[in-house]
Amino acid sequence: MPKVIFVERDGTRREVDAPLGLSVLEIAHKNDIDIEGACEGSLACSTCHVIVDTDWYELLKDASEDEEDMLDLAFGLTATSRLGCQIVMTEELDGLVVRLPASTRNLLRG
Ligand code: FES
Repeated sequence: MPKVIFVERDGTRREVDAPLGLSVLEIAHKNDIDIEGACEGSLACSTCHVIVDTDWYELLKDASEDEEDMLDLAFGLTATSRLGCQIVMTEELDGLVVRLPASTRNLLRG
């Protein structure tokens, strides 16, 4: 079974099972990892924002234009940010490391 490693906001690393074909968002939800995913994968929010480890970023399929548009609204955007609902597990991504952004809420604060 492939694995995904989530780095939580406090720096804790959690390695979890990542069934092929599931999105990073679905995998997070199965494991009680705190990614909101308000629109459940329909590209209508940016609350599933994750920061992909640079070594892994290149292996991901390019983001669609819709994903890019939504990402622009994400809080704490970085050069390797993606939407968790758009990263689908493949064999190749076994060991993927993604970090939770510092905050997806309090959009109006600083
Ligand atoms: S869950 Fe809304 S865009 Fe991913």
